[in-house]
Amino acid sequence: MKKSLLLGLLVCALQAVAQEAPSTGEKSVKPGINTRYLDPTLKVDDWLKRFEVESREVFHNREHILNACEIQPGMVVADIGAGTGLFTRLFSQAVGEKGWVHAVDINARFLEHIQARAAQEKQKNITTVLCPQDSVSLPPESIDLAFICDVYHHFEFPRTTLESLHRALKPGGRIIMIDFIRIEGVSSDWTLGHVRAGEEVFRQEVEEAGFRLDAKLKVPGLKDNYCLRFVKAEEKGN
Ligand SMILES: C[S@@+](CC[C@H](N)C(=O)[O-])C[C@H]1O[C@@H](n2cnc3c(N)ncnc32)[C@H](O)[C@@H]1O
Repeated sequence: MKKSLLLGLLVCALQAVAQEAPSTGEKSVKPGINTRYLDPTLKVDDWLKRFEVESREVFHNREHILNACEIQPGMVVADIGAGTGLFTRLFSQAVGEKGWVHAVDINARFLEHIQARAAQEKQKNITTVLCPQDSVSLPPESIDLAFICDVYHHFEFPRTTLESLHRALKPGGRIIMIDFIRIEGVSSDWTLGHVRAGEEVFRQEVEEAGFRLDAKLKVPGLKDNYCLRFVKAEEKGN
């Protein structure tokens, strides 16, 4: 067999594997959405200019979002898809020295940045967790709150990822999920193309994974995003 053909077949095989969750075989719901976040040479400075700017709704309203999370001192919070860590740093202050924050992401460059910034600001209650695309990689019943801001639509394997999140939350643990409002015929072409589904679909997926919608939160200043709070149900389907 020709070398180039063999190489082509290998690339196809690797792509096929990457489109399945290794642990369950779940098919990717949006292949390629994380191409830029999976780049090991990702430049954090470029993303700081996108994520930590006042023109970004969730950054501008970060204190309102923090209030909506109702963090109590001593809580263990996981910032899933932490990116540059803007919420990780706020949670670190809110949980205090008896609490803990896990910054979880698929890209090591983001996590190195979060660690460096935490050291600079003497925030000693932050751990960074490099996770694969299909698991939040946290121990069972270890967290009180999972925060998922502008991340759910990036989950390529939502069912498998949510299963891992369900395991990681303590009984009665909560999810705060913020994502883009997506309405056919109303939302921008960018939103319609980038975000695979709207609130109803995402809500149903989370409920099917064993969570109960507890509240739709009104966060002052949020116009392009909705905010949902879920609670881990006693048993799946409750
Ligand atoms: C749009 S950014 C949002 C970052 C941050 N939450 C914020 O609002 O500033 C999406 C982040 O999710 C991360 N991500 C994508 N898929 C993920 C997954 N399956 N598990 C954990 N993080 C993921 C990306 O690497 C990226 O940092």
